[in-house]
Amino acid sequence: MSNHGNESAGVASVRRLTVTDLQAMKGKTPIVCLTAYAAWTARLIDPFADIALVGDSLGNVVYGLPSTLGVTLDMMIAHGRAVVGASRRAFVLIDMPFATFETSPEQAFANAARVMAETGASGVKLECGPAMVPTVAFLVDRGIPVMAHIGLTPQAVHKLGGYRARGRDPEEADRMVQTALALQAAGAFSILIEATVEPVARKVAEALAVPTIGIGASSACDGQVLVTEDMLGLTGKRTAKFVRRYAELGDDLSAAVEAYADDVRARRFPGPEHVYPPA
Ligand code: KIV
Repeated sequence: MSNHGNESAGVASVRRLTVTDLQAMKGKTPIVCLTAYAAWTARLIDPFADIALVGDSLGNVVYGLPSTLGVTLDMMIAHGRAVVGASRRAFVLIDMPFATFETSPEQAFANAARVMAETGASGVKLECGPAMVPTVAFLVDRGIPVMAHIGLTPQAVHKLGGYRARGRDPEEADRMVQTALALQAAGAFSILIEATVEPVARKVAEALAVPTIGIGASSACDGQVLVTEDMLGLTGKRTAKFVRRYAELGDDLSAAVEAYADDVRARRFPGPEHVYPPA
C-alpha cells in the first residue's frame, strides 16, 4: 500500500492515506512514521512516510524545553497546520499535549475537536494508561481517530521517575498487554509502543489486530517511528538507544555556518553575483 511509484502518474494521483489504508497495511507492508513539526520537514518526508507525526517532542526539539510538559494545545495546532499544509500523502497525526485530555472525556473531545478542525489533521495521539480507555472510546465514538501511546509515556516522566525502558517488571508487562487490548477494544486505530523491553513489545504487537508502531520496541511491530531530527543527527551527539542516525546534519550545519561566518569576516561574501547592478 504505497504511492511511491506513482510520481509518473502525476500530482493528481497522490491522495492522503486514511485509517483504513494504515490498517490494511498490517501483516503486509511495514508502516513508516516520522515526526514533522514544520513545513520543510513535512515536504521532505511526505513522499516516504506513511504517517507524519506532529509529536509533542517538538517541545524539546523546537522549543528547547526540558520535557514535553510545557507544550500547549496552541503550539500543537500551529505546527499541525503547517505540516498538513505542506504534505499531501502522509496521514498527519497530532499529539494531544499534557493536561489537555486527562480531566474528562468531554475535555478531551473539546480539545481534540479543535485540533482536528483547526489543522485538518487525520487523527490524534494520546499517551494512555488504563484510565484513558473510556476517553479513547468517547473520542472514537464521536468520529476522532485515535492512536494510543503506551510503554514509556514521556508526559508521565515525573510519575515514572525518568525515561527508562518499561515492561521489566512482570506485573507492569502484563498490565501493558491488558491496557493495549482494552485500548484496541475502545476503538484505537493503532497503538504506539515506546521504549519497552523487546519481548513485551512483541507480545503486545502479536496480541493486537490493529497496527502497532514501535520506537525502542520491537521489529515485530507493524511500523516504526523516529524523531526526524534525531535520525538526521540534528539533536546532539547523545541519542536514545533506539535511534539509528542516517545523517550527521548537525556537523554539516556547523561547517556551513562556520564557512559563512569566515566569508563574511574576510569580505568574501557577498560576491559580485550576489549584489544588484544598477541596470
Ligand atoms: O512526541 C513524539 O515525537 C512521540 C514519538 C517519540 C513517538 O510521541
